Amino acid sequence: MKKNFKLYGIIIFVVAVVILSISITNFQKQSTLLREEIFDKCKMIALELKHMREYLAETMATANMEHNETTRMFMPAMAGNEIGKKFYNETGYQLRQVSSKYRNPKNKPDSFEQIALTEFEKDKNLSEYKGVEKMGGQKVLRYLIPLYIEEACLKCHSAKETIPEIIQEDYPEDKATDYVFGDLRGAISVAVPIDRAEAEIKENLIHMTIVTTIGMVFLVTFVYIAMNITIKMSDKKKSN
Ligand code: HEC
Repeated sequence: MKKNFKLYGIIIFVVAVVILSISITNFQKQSTLLREEIFDKCKMIALELKHMREYLAETMATANMEHNETTRMFMPAMAGNEIGKKFYNETGYQLRQVSSKYRNPKNKPDSFEQIALTEFEKDKNLSEYKGVEKMGGQKVLRYLIPLYIEEACLKCHSAKETIPEIIQEDYPEDKATDYVFGDLRGAISVAVPIDRAEAEIKENLIHMTIVTTIGMVFLVTFVYIAMNITIKMSDKKKSN
């Protein structure tokens, strides 16, 4: 009986260790999957914004649109800023357009974005730059794609004297001029906090681990009791 009880203890211990290690592996796997999924979403959002910006730049050029107070909100970066704000309010995904040679100081890159821009500058084939960072005490996924100067961009990003007057007046400290076709102009930057999503995964897994452990303890106990009864019965039979 004593021996059996020891065996019961060992089995419970082994089962608990197995369940715990499965849970930890599961958590790591699900966290990786979650990150991949969010990075995929970032890519889609960034590409969508990139194409929308290009479309606006091209349309403004082909329509020969005047650049004034009324039409300024159609400028690609302006539209991007406004759409970014709405998008953030609804989804929590932060969208920015950044550049080392910024026109608006609000678009100055932070340290992660600056590293990405330097990498894009070094390697023209690099189509994205991503990572995980602590921002304001929160774990955040960062994702950037490069923006290159196309024909339509030159209207507002070439030599200072040639760009629309309204831009010259609005941005006296403008650094975003003198670009030529093919230059790296900046990047679209997406930031997504993942603390909440990871906490949810953790909570679900802890819940599952507790339920599985209780279930397994019941099962092992049941087998242990059944085994003892069988042994006792066969002992009785033998002594008879
Ligand atoms: C009609 C004018 C116009 C055109 C065309 C235009 N831009 Fe801009 N761009 C602006 C203005 C104005 C800003 C500043 C927006 C702000 O205040 O946030 C800006 C800002 C930016 C920024 C944000 C960083 C910064 O300098 O403040 C990027 C990146 C950018 N433009 C890239 C492009 C690219 C790439 C194209 C071509 C696809 C393009 N722009 C075409 C007017 C233009």
